[in-house]
This record gives sequence, structure tokens and C-alpha cells, in this order.
Amino acid sequence: MQLYTNPNSPFARKVRVSALELGLADRIENLEVTLSPINPHAALGQHNPLEKIPALITDDGEALYDSPVICEYLDALAGGGRLIPTAGAARWMALRRQALADGIMDAAVLVRYETVLRPATLRWPEWREGQWHKIHTALDALEREQLGETFDIGAIAVACALGYLDLRFAESAWRAQRPQLAGWLDRITERESLRATRPV
Ligand code: BEZ
Repeated sequence: MQLYTNPNSPFARKVRVSALELGLADRIENLEVTLSPINPHAALGQHNPLEKIPALITDDGEALYDSPVICEYLDALAGGGRLIPTAGAARWMALRRQALADGIMDAAVLVRYETVLRPATLRWPEWREGQWHKIHTALDALEREQLGETFDIGAIAVACALGYLDLRFAESAWRAQRPQLAGWLDRITERESLRATRPV
């Protein structure tokens, strides 16, 4: 299998952490690409019309995207139910947590593009504040949820979202009002799969 990826993409990191946790990382060749909405990648576009990472090329030559679909595929390949519970409350909580964390990543990456890509004269502070509002309310929800030690797809996604905030928005001080979440990340960060995929 081949994975279109970038070391700093939180969505691609979610897939790489999942592959490591499932023992499938050795079967995946990482194809590192650099791209943005104004700098697309032609080769990637042949596989994913949205020209976004991550995209996985399976051993059958099929392209899969986006990160929830790829993670579900890898989980099934490893027997199923390993990172994504198959039924019951655990399943819906894990998937909801993944959605919350993916929403944080979406908003944070948009803020990043707004800050580094958009010409200064075209920037829109209220729009950026709107994205930060989403990030803060999602972090508050995660603080209330009190994450445990289960490292399922929800926990993987949350760890990758928080890792991206630390990478690109270290000044945001998201930990200040969220001691439970901060403590959880400190503990979980020691896992080998997260250490091995730490953004550069
Ligand atoms: C980043 O460098 O912040 C980044 C890279 C790839 C995807 C999203 C964000």
C-alpha cells in the first residue's frame, strides 16, 4: 500500500498512528507530498479528485480517502474492531470523538492557511476568530468528557488534533483552562505510535 502524506498533516498522522497501532505500518510506503489549496499536487489528483491528503492506494490499486475511511479500512484489514468498536455506545462515542477532533483539525488548518497563505490585505480577523471559537468549544467538550486510557480512533484523533495545535499554535495556551485534557495528552504522548509520528 502507498500513503500520500505529509509529516505535519494531523489527518495523515491519524492514519499513520492507526497503522502503527494495528501492526500494518510495514505494509505502507509513505509518499510525502507538500501541497496547499493554492499549490495542488498533480500525481495525488489522479488518485483523489479533491487533491487532499491523506490518500491510501490499496494493494488492489484502489484509492481511499479521507482519513476516517482509510482508518476504517486499516482496522478491517487488521481483523476489525481493533480501533473502531463494532457496536454499542463505545462505537458511537469513539466516532463522535473522532468527528470532534477532525473538526478541530479542520478549523486549525484553515486558520493556518489564513495566517500563512492569504495575502495580508485579504485577511479577515472575524472569520479567523470564528474558527478559533469552534476550536475552543470543541476543546471544552473534550475536557468535560474526561478521556480514559482506551486508545481507539477517537483518542488517536484527539491526540493528533492537540499535537497540531502544539505544532502550529503553541502560543494558544489551550492547556490553561483544561487540566484534564492536558494531563491526558501528557500521558498518551508516551505511546510509541505517537512518538514515531511526532510532527517535525
Ligand atoms: C501544515 O504544515 O500545517 C500542514 C501540512 C499538511 C496539511 C495540513 C497542514
